[in-house]
Amino acid sequence: MRFATLALRVGQEPDSDFKAVVPPLYQSTTFAWDSLEDIPSIDYTRCQNPNRLMLEKVIAALEGGSHCTVYASGMAAIAASFSLLRQGDHILMATDIYGGTHRMVEQYLPRQGVTHGFFDSMNPDSIHQAVRPETKMLIFETPSNPNLKVCDIEAVVSAAKKHGLIVVFDNTFASPALQNPLALGVDIVVHSTTKYISGHSDVLGGATITNDPEIGHALYEWTKAYGATPSPFDCWLSLRGLRTLSVRMERHCKNAQAVAEAMEGHPAVRKVHYPGLRTHPQHETAKKQMKGFGGMLAVEFVSEAIAREVAQTTEIFLLAESLGGVESLIAFPPLMSHATMTEDQRLERGIPPSLLRISCGIEDPEDLIEDLKQAISRAEAKLAVVSNA
Ligand SMILES: Cc1ncc(COP(=O)(O)O)c(C=O)c1O
Repeated sequence: MRFATLALRVGQEPDSDFKAVVPPLYQSTTFAWDSLEDIPSIDYTRCQNPNRLMLEKVIAALEGGSHCTVYASGMAAIAASFSLLRQGDHILMATDIYGGTHRMVEQYLPRQGVTHGFFDSMNPDSIHQAVRPETKMLIFETPSNPNLKVCDIEAVVSAAKKHGLIVVFDNTFASPALQNPLALGVDIVVHSTTKYISGHSDVLGGATITNDPEIGHALYEWTKAYGATPSPFDCWLSLRGLRTLSVRMERHCKNAQAVAEAMEGHPAVRKVHYPGLRTHPQHETAKKQMKGFGGMLAVEFVSEAIAREVAQTTEIFLLAESLGGVESLIAFPPLMSHATMTEDQRLERGIPPSLLRISCGIEDPEDLIEDLKQAISRAEAKLAVVSNA
């Protein structure tokens, strides 16, 4: 079976009682034992639940992994990966990383005696300089958040493996529909399933996927011990969303490409960051490792004032955190995804305050383009009035 079919068929046989085509919701914390000799495979929902198991089987199949564990959020999936670290260990983190991961590594891992360093994922040789004898793990992601840089996954894995590191990769931005990092040598793929996998901005969740049985077992045991478990309904909702990932992703990619092309060259725009543009510096790398260029882009305006006005003037794009849902969103990184970084840290990472991150939904692309253009015109008119006053 291929991707779109796997999403609809893996582990989703009609139920044995009534042949329901849609998997029923098992909203039960506990499951009855037939006898003391016959321990059921699922007995308590913190440890496992039929809705969770179904979701894990489908995500594992879509990422090409043997072991998947799902969690109550993407951050819980990342915390589960970090649970493999012990006191005295060191982790390398890409400089271009989601702000929440940055916060966990910088503020919380030191409390468990785990230190960290940075490397530049665009320059895999930087791993050789940053690694220490006690380095155990490396975490990175691509396309990067928010400025959509694309690093070469195989090159980063190859440098990390020279030092025997466990390689963790956050595949949230691309989703398994566009990129399968396990096939490129990554040890653990993490997802915020809150985004493209669930796809409707109505449920939080996370996942880890691996082909290493020992790692898979350790991650499952961690969530059982710490209770970072998603509810049955969260799993049911996530699976409902995941079943349409393939068609949604086609539309996200088409819309983002159309918006990126329409914004490129606009007089109010300094730069458009989208891997699907031929002008994107890593367009060829993206073509090599991705099946599509994704639904995310970033637009750098000629000034912070225009960016702020546009963010507040669009009518279809909503000004909101998050990404990967069916509706289009605009984010202002300094107050949203990257608020925990200082302005200097953001500037070092190429995130000026004139940059807006855009998550393209599945609306008509012409409506999205018209909405951005009208917002830019209104922003320019308002700022002209202010400067003439
Ligand atoms: C790339 C990435 N990873 C992880 C997360 C964290 O996911 P969650 O909000 O589901 O905990 C996010 C959230 O925005 C994200 O964008």
